[in-house]
Amino acid sequence: MIVVIPKEIHPLETRTAVTPVTVKQLIKSGLNVRIESGAGQASFISDSDYQDAGAEILDSGSKVLSQADVVLRVLPPSEEEISQLRPHSVYVSFIQTTRELKIVKALAEKSITGFSMHLIPRTTLAQKMDALSSQANIAGYKAVLIAANRLGVYMPLLMTAAGTIRPAKVLILGAGVAGLQAIATAKRLGAQVEAFDVRPVVKEQVESLGAKFIEVQSDSDDGVGEGGYAKETSDDYKRRQQELIHEHMSEADVVITTALIPGRPAPLLIPTTMVDDMKPGSIIMDLAAENGGNCELTQKDQVIEYNGVTIDGTSNIPGTLPVHASELYAKNITAFLTYMVKDGELNLDLEDEIISGAMFTHRGEITHEPTQEAMNA
Ligand code: NAI
Repeated sequence: MIVVIPKEIHPLETRTAVTPVTVKQLIKSGLNVRIESGAGQASFISDSDYQDAGAEILDSGSKVLSQADVVLRVLPPSEEEISQLRPHSVYVSFIQTTRELKIVKALAEKSITGFSMHLIPRTTLAQKMDALSSQANIAGYKAVLIAANRLGVYMPLLMTAAGTIRPAKVLILGAGVAGLQAIATAKRLGAQVEAFDVRPVVKEQVESLGAKFIEVQSDSDDGVGEGGYAKETSDDYKRRQQELIHEHMSEADVVITTALIPGRPAPLLIPTTMVDDMKPGSIIMDLAAENGGNCELTQKDQVIEYNGVTIDGTSNIPGTLPVHASELYAKNITAFLTYMVKDGELNLDLEDEIISGAMFTHRGEITHEPTQEAMNA
């Protein structure tokens, strides 16, 4: 079975779905690995590194995709690329299937079996395949460093002969994987860190990292949805949440927002009126920019300034750390593919919850229900 890793075509994508280590793992599973020349370049992996690991290098511009039984990628294919794929081949990448309906439809029409790394169930068995977590961790870490680099103030408390410098205040909205890593990183730099999340269960995790948890008092289970993820909250809860966030934001030097609800647009936590009350020189890192942003002013992949407040909407922060982002992503995607391979052949057990969970198109059908519903709507 031939596994092809084409170059990423998006100009801002620096990651790759394969490293020399994972090439060896794929070959060990009985697979034939072919990589488009230059696929690892932005992650500092050369063609000869891949060749030394046992991969075959394909000339760029040749019919790379049409050779594949399986394609491994970071990003989804373009419609033009789908036309080059072989019917019944398999394509694995990140894809938000309820939002990228045109691509889903084109894959289904071509009878491609599509798997989304976004849809891998978050079970213990699938932890090593959890690319959302591996990349969110990087985003949380790097967002703090980018903000610190831009700040006009120190992060830590300093007692100097010239006087005492107070620590910077960092506010984290959304304490999931990215938010917790942001808390840990900001604490390491010596900042005073506060965090808020709709799921009260994260309070303990936030406090164990040495940050203060900001709480909205609620009698109900507002905020907690299926599988421990966040869900949409009531209007009253939202109002009280906004008041509290507003109060803390006006004191903050850095605000890092990571709030997401799977399959839905990112919740709006920071309307412009809140930014109006922020200190000049403060910074918002909006890690939800990909899904519309948590701040009303965020513009995807732009860094803007508003009344002295910098708002960073970079959507691919993991791509700014391409070596480790690729290393981890390649391990995640390889763990997923090799899980489905037996004796060098694909063994698609549709009863398996990881395989059926991550699959969204198969044999001409859209197999992921929420995606089919989005398509019907
Ligand atoms: P996510 O990326 O979907 O959301 C990020 C955070 O935003 C979440 O903590 C969510 O509660 C919060 N949020 C949503 N709406 C909000 C609002 N209106 N205001 C404030 N915060 C809001 O979630 P992520 O980071 O991918 O994972 C969330 C949790 O899932 C983790 O903390 C962990 O407990 C669990 N998880 C479990 C895994 C496993 O068992 N294998 C793997 C990864 C995560």
